[in-house]
This record gives sequence, C-alpha cells and structure tokens, in this order.
Amino acid sequence: MWPKHLITVADLSVGDIEDIFRQTAELKSSRGGGGSGAGTEKPLAGKTLALVFEKSSLRTRVSFDVAMRQLGGGTIYLSRQDIDLGHRESVRDVAKTLSRYVDVIALRTFRHETVLEMAKDSTVPVINALSDYTHPCQALTDLYTVREKRGTLEGVKVSFIGDGNNMARSLAMLCAKLGVGFCIASPRGYGLDNEFLDKISASVTHSPLSATTDPSEAVAGADVVYTDTWISMGQEAEAEKKRRDFRGYCVDAALVAGAKKDVLVMHCLPAHRGEEISGDVLDGPNSIVYDQAENRLHVQKAILKILLTG
Ligand code: CP
Ligand code: NVA
Repeated sequence: MWPKHLITVADLSVGDIEDIFRQTAELKSSRGGGGSGAGTEKPLAGKTLALVFEKSSLRTRVSFDVAMRQLGGGTIYLSRQDIDLGHRESVRDVAKTLSRYVDVIALRTFRHETVLEMAKDSTVPVINALSDYTHPCQALTDLYTVREKRGTLEGVKVSFIGDGNNMARSLAMLCAKLGVGFCIASPRGYGLDNEFLDKISASVTHSPLSATTDPSEAVAGADVVYTDTWISMGQEAEAEKKRRDFRGYCVDAALVAGAKKDVLVMHCLPAHRGEEISGDVLDGPNSIVYDQAENRLHVQKAILKILLTG
C-alpha cells in the first residue's frame, strides 16, 4: 500500500520505489518521437496540483507543472508572497482550505516541520518538493538516472562530496534502501550527523555507508561522483564562512580521476562552477546533469500518477 504522502524516501518500501521506476520508464518511453514527453495518456484530466513554494526553483517548479499538463491536469503556483504560509494564516488552515480546491499539493519550504504539518492536516496527498531536511523527488530521480545509464544499481558506489545537506541526506536514505554503496566526504562539522547515519545504517543489511573528511578516499572506485551547492537556500548568511571551510572539496578533474574511468558525474543543480564543481567537470563527458534534470519530469509524472490514481 503506497503511503498517502511523499515526505521522505524513508516512507517508501523497496516495492514502492520499484513501482515508481517502472512507471517512470513506461511514461518516458511512451512520449513518442517528439522528445517533449507529452505522450497521449491523460490520466490526471480534471486534477489540479498546488505548487506551494517558499523558495526559488527552476527544475522542480517547471517539471511538476509540465508533468501535470502532460498527464491532462493543471497547476496553480503559490509563492511566499501569495499566501505567506504560517504568517498570514496557519499551515493547518492553508492545508484544510487547499484540500477543498486541489487534488495534490507539492510544498517547497524552509522548515521540514512545515511539510509534516501540511501533511497532517491535508486531506489530499502532499509531496515534499524540498525542505531543509530532504529532497525526495530529486533523490528518486538520481538513482533512476543511474540505473538507466548503468542498467542496474547492483554493486554501484555513490560518492557525495560536500555538505551533509538535504540532498546528501535523501541520497543516503535512498542508497540505504536500495542497497547502493554511499560514501560522503565533508569538512569536519559539515557531514551527516552520526545519529542519522546510525539510524539509516540500522535499517539496512547490505548497503555500505561511510563518511570521511577526505574527498580522494571517498571517490576511490566510485561509479558516481555527486555534489551539490555548499550554500543551500536559507544559508546565505553563512556563505563566506562555508566557502572558506569547503576549500579543497571542489569536484575537479584531479579528484574525478580517482574514481572509475566511466564515472557518472552528477549534480542536482543549480551549480556554482568554480565552487563545489569545476566548469570542465560539470560540462565534461562524464557529466549527466541535464539527463538528471530531464528525468525529474518523468519521475514526477510517475509519482503524481501513482498518488492520484493508485
Ligand atoms: N534540483 C532542483 O530541485 O532544482 P530547483 O531548485 O531549480 O528546483
Ligand atoms: N541543497 C540545495 C538543493 C537545491 C536543489 C538547497 O537546498 O538549496
């Protein structure tokens, strides 16, 4: 039984994840020759998605909007200025009111607690479209993309270089679920906290999870080298300190040379060339960042279809 909401990947069983991947592949391949992903199936005709976004977005906003349109539904975008969630009125009242108008809510928010509150009081499915804690739609897309490129996730090792942030956390959780190796390299004080690592390690039997401060150690033998911004949305005040503390953690050609020869270089974007990743690596032959970005559309079509039609 699928959970009602998609808040973190921890809510999903391996079977649920397989279901998303299978439906994603079907939806992607049924798009026809146009490359737009349009297809002909309109299972969400008459359905509306509310995009409640407290933070900026390109990929998440556009891919959810296009996903709904291609499945026959519509969207309404509500920015911080529009509803001023939690200030103009409570999250509870927004959840209860929106549930009377729309069929599903995608929420991008600063505090993960806001997603939990919205889900508690909403009678329609709530999708976490990024919180300070996790970014499940991105992580699901990322491992779908790795499987698409490699044909399997078996024996794969993902190395995450950078901040122990929402992206690192979601990838670690999903790798643990699927038995994919995961190693994070972060400066001291910026890694994933031990309590979190112990918790996800305890939930798996065969996924090697490890943490280090040494990026070269992390990338050794890696099939995937992944990075994300050092300064997540909401952390702008710490930007200068973080730029100093993360010196030496740039995913550049010298670092990538320590991974497997056919390594996949991934980044959820937006990227900062010359900070967490060098321009030559981001734009180089091993980078799959735009395939990754495209797959947000296909994976989210599958998620919407499953949540709204069962
Ligand atoms: N990767 C991602 O979520 O991008 P946006 O912040 O542009 O939505
Ligand atoms: N860690 C980044 C991810 C952006 C998609 C952030 O939260 O800003």
